[in-house]
Amino acid sequence: MTTHPEAASLENLLHEERSFAPSPAFAAQANAQPSLYADAAADRLGFWADQARDLVSWHTPFTQTLDWTDAPVARWFADGTLNAAYNAVDRHVEAGRGDRVALHFEGEPGDTRTVTYADLQRDVARAANALAALGVAKGDRVVIYLPMLVESVVAMLACARIGAVHSVVFGGFSADALRSRIADAEAKLVITADGGYRRGAPSALKPAVDEALDGEGTDTVKHVLVVRRTGQDTAWTQGRDIWWDDALESADTFHEPVWVDAEHPLFILYTSGTTGKPKGILHTTGGYLTQCAYTHKYVFDLKDDDVYWCTADIGWVTGHSYVVYGPLANGATQVIYEGTPDTPHRGRWWELIEKYGVSILYTAPTAIRTCMKWGEDIPAGFDLSSLRVLGSVGEPINPEAWMWYRRVIGGDTAPIVDTWWQTETGAIMISPLPGVTATKPGSAQVPLPGIAADVVDDDARSVPDGGGGYLVLTEPWPSMLRGIWGDRQRYEDTYWSRWKGLYFAGDGAKKDDDGDVWLLGRVDDVMNVSGHRLSTTEIESALVSHDIVAEAAVVGANDDMTGQAVVAFVILRGEHADRAATPEGAAEVQQELRNHVAKEIGPIAKPKRILVVPELPKTRSGKIMRRLLRDVAENRAVGDATTLADASVMTLISDGLTATKSADD
Ligand code: PRX
Repeated sequence: MTTHPEAASLENLLHEERSFAPSPAFAAQANAQPSLYADAAADRLGFWADQARDLVSWHTPFTQTLDWTDAPVARWFADGTLNAAYNAVDRHVEAGRGDRVALHFEGEPGDTRTVTYADLQRDVARAANALAALGVAKGDRVVIYLPMLVESVVAMLACARIGAVHSVVFGGFSADALRSRIADAEAKLVITADGGYRRGAPSALKPAVDEALDGEGTDTVKHVLVVRRTGQDTAWTQGRDIWWDDALESADTFHEPVWVDAEHPLFILYTSGTTGKPKGILHTTGGYLTQCAYTHKYVFDLKDDDVYWCTADIGWVTGHSYVVYGPLANGATQVIYEGTPDTPHRGRWWELIEKYGVSILYTAPTAIRTCMKWGEDIPAGFDLSSLRVLGSVGEPINPEAWMWYRRVIGGDTAPIVDTWWQTETGAIMISPLPGVTATKPGSAQVPLPGIAADVVDDDARSVPDGGGGYLVLTEPWPSMLRGIWGDRQRYEDTYWSRWKGLYFAGDGAKKDDDGDVWLLGRVDDVMNVSGHRLSTTEIESALVSHDIVAEAAVVGANDDMTGQAVVAFVILRGEHADRAATPEGAAEVQQELRNHVAKEIGPIAKPKRILVVPELPKTRSGKIMRRLLRDVAENRAVGDATTLADASVMTLISDGLTATKSADD
């Protein structure tokens, strides 16, 4: 296997001796008890059926738990009917909890909104009626391109309420990326905003929608609903564009939810794969909701008086499962925040925790490392004593960051849950359970009750404790993806073709001597930058679509702050080759190409470094040896290059780099 570079450094830590057992007081009150593992092991499907009945309200009860006859497309609870928005909102109001706060919204400029479950019910019903009035019906796709606003949550739930399939596109993606997602999903409606606040200034969103809709394959879109957030001037297409407020104002506050089959599509979320084209990951309703609610209840130990905050944007799967569906299904009170952690000052997050009394925080290692860099005196200036559970997601958390998180943010007492999962898995799969598991810095440790995972070698044999290999999931789970939108073959090829009957997650992993699982990063051509998934191939395609680039190779290099950073190696076309000959010229070329990638994909995909090289290292069959480029990008001695078609290439690259180094750094 190609071991991820982080594997080497993590390997030394596999003999982690630090272990933090739950306090007796926490264990005594915890939702999770050790019996949960035993119950699930005794009857896995029965266990899931119990969770589905216990945590989800069904319009028609299901009688079948799992139908795996069309493997690898699972059907869970298939003869039951339900509605995800009803589960997230109405049933709490019906249970007399309408006055409970669902969302404490905090805008970046400091404006706030408190939304109760009764408010949410009214807004979602009106939005559902408004969508229906615009001709959106069950099964239609709606693209949502919004900042982190109350309306974003309402928009997703309104789609679910009428059985429409939402596809949220992260606001940091470009018009081109938005266009291709709209086209692939054949969306009927786009919901956006005039803009959002970002680092103290309004940042426009609507122009990207206009540009996307001018592009190919977007004729299916009939209307654009526009949330007014910043009040900035907004170009308008009469007949197509409608203000969100206008559409909702005239809409009725009563709406009967559309009851759908458990396997009815709930959403499509595009994510990067190993090829250039993003994959539309498809999730359905009943199983997804069950696992979101179950994991949210047990992994975060959610109680009635908790105030929960997941810092993820709704543009990512974490925002879907742990801002919208999991917490709302469980009737939680949560904080949502529009902006960046350092606006207007670097203590903003901690200020919000103090202000709202946040007791459960779920965030990404990159954010923790950034706060570590800013210094612990910043969080020390705020009262964080309300925090009692801390979560981590999106990338491996290095033990130093884990220890800092525990000590500085968690007051040395709050258990940390390092949760491993993916867009494809829909919900958390591997994580300690607070109150049960003695936690270890840096390890996600154990599959949750009901989840079957293993680490296997090249021949699909389970590795012994102490061994390393690939992470696989060995049994279907309720919130698993049901496919890639419109492409069953690609679904089977991507996840199920490597070993028969095993779902291959794309991650390398190890088992330590206790059998605990350590995630070691991707083993395919997917990078993980600040917990966001990026495809090397997609960025390479973006680079070669620029006139001056002949060839490009992209690698994810270790980065102290962002986990990995995008480093690109490019060969310029003959007539442009001279442009990078001087440090100034090289800097200009880099800037031009970085901007180009931002335009093609989005600012998150911009390479941190672009190195102009005369050649790329290739095998005799023409495959680029990214491993060698990673050595260069991480300033290591170049490893074994004997399989290169031309062994002198690496010398050429290294020599060329020394010459342009001043321009790169
Ligand atoms: O490599 C793993 C990493 O993030 C990938 C999934 O990315 P995405 O679909 O964008 O979902 C991110 C949020 C769930 C995985 O294949 N990853 C996620 N969580 C962890 C992780 N790596 C190590 N430890 C984690 N806790």
